[in-house]
Amino acid sequence: MGRLVVVSNRVAVPRRGEVPSAGGLAVALADAFARRGGLWFGWSGTVAPDAPDVVRRARRSGVDYAVMDLASSEYDGFYLRHSNATLWPLFHFRLGLMQYDRAASETYRAVNRRFAENLLPLLKRDDTIWVHDYQLIPLGAELRRLGARQRIGYFHHIPFPPWAVLSTLPCAGDLIRDLLSYDLVGVQTNRDVAGLQDAMAAGTGMRVRPDGSVRLRGRRTRMAAFPIGIATAEFADLAREQAASGETQRLVTSLTGRSLIIGAERLDYTKGLPERMRAFAALLKRWPEHRGAVTYLQVAARSREDVESYKELKREIERLAGTINGEYADADWTPVRYVGRALPRGTLAGYYRVSHVGLVTPVRDGMNLVAKEYVAAQDPEDPGVLVLSRFAGAAESMPEALLVNPLDAVGVAEALDQALRMPRGERRARHAAIFARLIERDVSGWSADFLRALEGDDPLEDRPATREAA
Ligand code: F6P
Repeated sequence: MGRLVVVSNRVAVPRRGEVPSAGGLAVALADAFARRGGLWFGWSGTVAPDAPDVVRRARRSGVDYAVMDLASSEYDGFYLRHSNATLWPLFHFRLGLMQYDRAASETYRAVNRRFAENLLPLLKRDDTIWVHDYQLIPLGAELRRLGARQRIGYFHHIPFPPWAVLSTLPCAGDLIRDLLSYDLVGVQTNRDVAGLQDAMAAGTGMRVRPDGSVRLRGRRTRMAAFPIGIATAEFADLAREQAASGETQRLVTSLTGRSLIIGAERLDYTKGLPERMRAFAALLKRWPEHRGAVTYLQVAARSREDVESYKELKREIERLAGTINGEYADADWTPVRYVGRALPRGTLAGYYRVSHVGLVTPVRDGMNLVAKEYVAAQDPEDPGVLVLSRFAGAAESMPEALLVNPLDAVGVAEALDQALRMPRGERRARHAAIFARLIERDVSGWSADFLRALEGDDPLEDRPATREAA
């Protein structure tokens, strides 16, 4: 078996002696790297006015890391503009927020080319290459142009809209054709497979075969859903331990017997934070018995602060939290507690476990791992209730959550009211059903499934469109 070569936009090289990062892609890939070793290539996260075109190497816990810096102009055109102000809103169905700039789209492609040029000399003939996310869609095509013949897979972590939405991007046809350079294109859910196949058929005029593949000049590109999971058992253990910590107990004491609703995410307009605050206000307005009886804690980690729409969102959230507190607070009760920074994973795990409701209401989300972590963190004997947007990919495998439309403030408020009153027997039954699925389909299965399909052992024809649907 050849090496696994992972390429992602950001690469956090662990410090010497440090356990690799506890969250995100690092956890998802840990098993695969442990099985076969490999190389992780990408941007260092550093921006330099004129970044020298050099690749820095490091080896940590059996994995080789290779990172390059971005020049300021690349950071601006590739990352801030085309990735985060064009593709991000577009793929999340937010056409009103999408800004297009031809020069930035050219910088996006040029950075992908530079990634390919720097990666190519590091590759071996029998490597399997796995590219991650929308920042790097053209990377496979750029590698092929330079002669790479290895198997190359691409996983799209965010939603995939149908062609009617995608085609508003002037260079949408190029992006769709770029995907044909991959042997396998993976997305999160059945809904995304439908979007991808629609875009592929309409954007290229090619026929999607019944096995979900298209063929161009001898290459078959397969398309399928691989819903990402979490390290369920490990997160459940972490939450159990953290529930007893001083930090979690301080939170519990501060509630003085009130119920707790919790939300935690990056401060991003896809997460539906203003809508969520309005829903909480609707709960207090329509059901006065919850006034003084429930506290809503929202953790929002600052993100992409150089992009204008993110700055505006921050101001809006702060204003809304202030308005709700101004209207409903008492001298001894603050309805909304707003923490505008990231909290450590362990801290959140403890907080999730002692809260009564997990409120996860993105207006659109690829998967949403907070929803999965919230369920994993609960005490099975006395679990909290998940109120989940039907527009999160996670909803496809969580029918036992209270599924809501995040744009319907009163509908979300009704679900909150139902969650706060839900009898223990019903809470346990709903939790047990979701938890069993999270254990069965955890994150190690995700990377193994994708790689098996990429390396050809898994005929996609013989499996349901997603494991979640099985
Ligand atoms: O999940 C989508 C994603 O853009 C990842 O690719 C990325 O690592 C994460 O969100 C955080 O975004 P950023 O790297 O722009 O801070």
